[in-house]
Amino acid sequence: MKKIYLYGNWKMNMTVAETKKFFEGFSSQYQPYKNDAGLEVGVFAPFTSLWALADCAKNLGIVFGAENVYSEDKGAFTGEVSIPMLQEIGIKYVILGHSERRHIFNEPDEMIAKKVKAVLAAGMTPILCYGETLEEREGGNTFKVMERQLKSAIDGLSADDVKKIIYAYEPVWAIGTGKSATSEQAQEVCAWSRNLIGIKDVVILYGGSVKGSNAKELLSMNDIDGALVGGASLKPDAFIEIYKAYKA
Ligand code: PGA
Repeated sequence: MKKIYLYGNWKMNMTVAETKKFFEGFSSQYQPYKNDAGLEVGVFAPFTSLWALADCAKNLGIVFGAENVYSEDKGAFTGEVSIPMLQEIGIKYVILGHSERRHIFNEPDEMIAKKVKAVLAAGMTPILCYGETLEEREGGNTFKVMERQLKSAIDGLSADDVKKIIYAYEPVWAIGTGKSATSEQAQEVCAWSRNLIGIKDVVILYGGSVKGSNAKELLSMNDIDGALVGGASLKPDAFIEIYKAYKA
């Protein structure tokens, strides 16, 4: 059995009160599996809930992180949050390049690459998201787009740093749509990505409408090391169901 990563991306959901409530429900169900070395659970929350998340997650021994960060340490960047600010509250993991950052907030590859470098230089772990839109897939450009996204992010990094990144293939058409990629589609891209990255044992997650009913098949594929879960990570039962489905 391979090690599985189950990361929840809360997006712009969960106040401090809701974060605490989530963990009340989650911890009672998670505890029985606490010593399972084969599974790493993590939760990524909005900035304002990170303090509460850190508190709850530390008690359970699970990974916790932010959903974004800026590459500069301080200065005139209104509305941004820096790496030292995250580090001060114990954050070691950051999602970067999520499709909502790329497409709603127009974050270009170069900006994401700078963030990846800054996060690695700070000794933290970036979860680098990449993936094609429906239009790009239908136009036959899936691999071209992903090559651009991946290469721009890892260009100039040492092999050691490339290995420290956790990669998350998230086809934009599968995010929040209820329509997951098939396990074959996801496997194909994850295997291709591993090849492009050039390091066999990098961690590659799949994200896009993962839920209890499709988790086992997706997570059983050779080149898929885990899931980045949006909608189904917002309720303890739904999140735990994914975990249980894989173990079943
Ligand atoms: P979803 O989101 O599980 O709601 O499709 C996944 C993601 O955006 O990380």
